[in-house]
Amino acid sequence: MRGENGLEVRKIAVLGAGLMGHGIAQVAAQVGKYEVSLRDVKQEFIDRGMDMIRNSLQKFLSKGVISEAEMNEVLARIHPTIDLKEAVSDADLIIEAVPENIELKKSVFSEVDSLAPPHAIIASNTSSISITELASATNRPEKVCGMHFFNPPQLMKLVEIIKGAKTSDETIQTVRQVAEKMGKETVLVKKDCPGFIVNRILIPALNEAVALVWEGIADKEDIDKAIKLGLNWPMGPLTLLDYIGLDTTLAIAEVLESEIDPKFHPCPLLRQMVRAKLLGRKTGKGFYDWTKK
Ligand code: 3HC
Repeated sequence: MRGENGLEVRKIAVLGAGLMGHGIAQVAAQVGKYEVSLRDVKQEFIDRGMDMIRNSLQKFLSKGVISEAEMNEVLARIHPTIDLKEAVSDADLIIEAVPENIELKKSVFSEVDSLAPPHAIIASNTSSISITELASATNRPEKVCGMHFFNPPQLMKLVEIIKGAKTSDETIQTVRQVAEKMGKETVLVKKDCPGFIVNRILIPALNEAVALVWEGIADKEDIDKAIKLGLNWPMGPLTLLDYIGLDTTLAIAEVLESEIDPKFHPCPLLRQMVRAKLLGRKTGKGFYDWTKK
């Protein structure tokens, strides 16, 4: 069905219930009032995602942003499942938020293409992978685009919308309307280029913060303090790295390096910490110890 300027979206499927996926599903159900399927590959991942949603809703409840009845309505609009077909077969928009691995994402796009209705749009929350390449795994490249949320999706206002080489204007318009219904501000990335706008600028800055530690130029606390107080960032770059995940940051830096310019070469300390599984909050330790917080 068509709305005034694009496709009318009633049901959204979010693929991946992790750090980003759970938050996107929550915002879609809470602010956008959409019916949402939340799919992950294992029941334990789904359970963890639903726990994170409940925790976040509790925070909004305790601040009076939502009532208990609204909280229950939001939860009732989210349908968790491990069955991909069940999740996408009646969806108008599918938002993919699986781990940042190109082969994995391409196989998800190809499978979704075969299971989703022909009119459905498939958007990726990728932070750096080529939208055009993901679109090439489907038979509907005009209905594929990027829809990049920021962490935590419940609080961050921006969504970057990325046009692949074959994305239609109708797809962009539809996704923009959905993002706005979710209470987000959007920006359009007109050319499909790794890192889009925000990560093209952010990732080199985070990498330089790691290099300052690696070179022994300042202590991590002072690096964070300098950027918080000197640039008014809400959190210092090393704390932010722990929030985003060092593995995710490394993966983005590698794509920027290989696809744009060798100047984006990741600092050896970043790679070393990823090898040591010091990934940040998700593993309990990164630049800081989160196990006691
Ligand atoms: N759901 C609901 N409420 C939440 C929440 C969640 N998921 N997370 C935090 N909150 C609430 C807290 O309860 C708290 O409420 P209070 O003020 O009533 O106590 C409030 O939000 C503020 O949280 P905190 O006190 O824990 O921390 P901050 O004041 O630092 O705010 C923040 C949190 C909004 C995350 C802020 O620190 C911030 O803006 N940080 C920077 C985040 C950022 O840069 N994100 C982008 C990362 S890059 C990215 O995502 C792209 C990717 O591709 C790499």
